[in-house]
Amino acid sequence: MTAQPFHAAGEAPPPTPQEMRSAMSVFASGVTIVTGLDDGEPVGFACQSFASVSLEPPLVLFCADHRGRAWPRIRRSGRFTVNVLGEDQREVCGRFGSRTGLKFQGLDWSASRWGTPSLPDVLMRAHAEVHAVHVSGDHDIVIGRVLALEVLKPGKPLLFYRGKFGIDDGLPLELKPPFLGWGDHWG
Ligand SMILES: Cc1cc2nc3c(=O)[nH]c(=O)nc-3n(C[C@H](O)[C@H](O)[C@H](O)COP(=O)(O)O)c2cc1C
Repeated sequence: MTAQPFHAAGEAPPPTPQEMRSAMSVFASGVTIVTGLDDGEPVGFACQSFASVSLEPPLVLFCADHRGRAWPRIRRSGRFTVNVLGEDQREVCGRFGSRTGLKFQGLDWSASRWGTPSLPDVLMRAHAEVHAVHVSGDHDIVIGRVLALEVLKPGKPLLFYRGKFGIDDGLPLELKPPFLGWGDHWG
């Protein structure tokens, strides 16, 4: 089956938010939890828009929705840890991808040297300080200068693809409602 473009080239209005969400969901990614410590309280959110930016100096990035509650607090604290989830950590993603429920309750986290929360059983942690923040539409592009890396264990990463965990070959190819993306599943 061949997927149709949303609009013919040349006469295209820009894609709607739903079309953006659906199309971008075919780009598979890992899942991270970005954590920080604000006023002694651990905060964090699930984040798939993590990427490496520069090797020298060591820089990483993530994109944070302006509606998020954790990001302004992480920004204020000036430091964060990116915790890369393994494939058996769907529950951790669920709790940090939700606006309801206590994210750290019952979780065996520890404070890093920089005070930022280190989550247990993750594949890798990148500890960083906020280096630059670029406002881009409804998100901030956050550049972090890496202070330390911890590569903790081998293992398969948690994958997020077309709004679901893992690669599901059975999903239809058409880009039509219901649109897929994390915003449809987590509030
Ligand atoms: C798999 C997954 C990936 C996500 N990626 C991002 C992301 O890259 N940027 C972002 O701002 N929110 C992302 N979210 C949404 C936030 O985790 C979600 O809105 C969360 O409830 C925000 O919590 P907060 O309001 O306490 O900060 C993602 C959620 C999931 C489940």
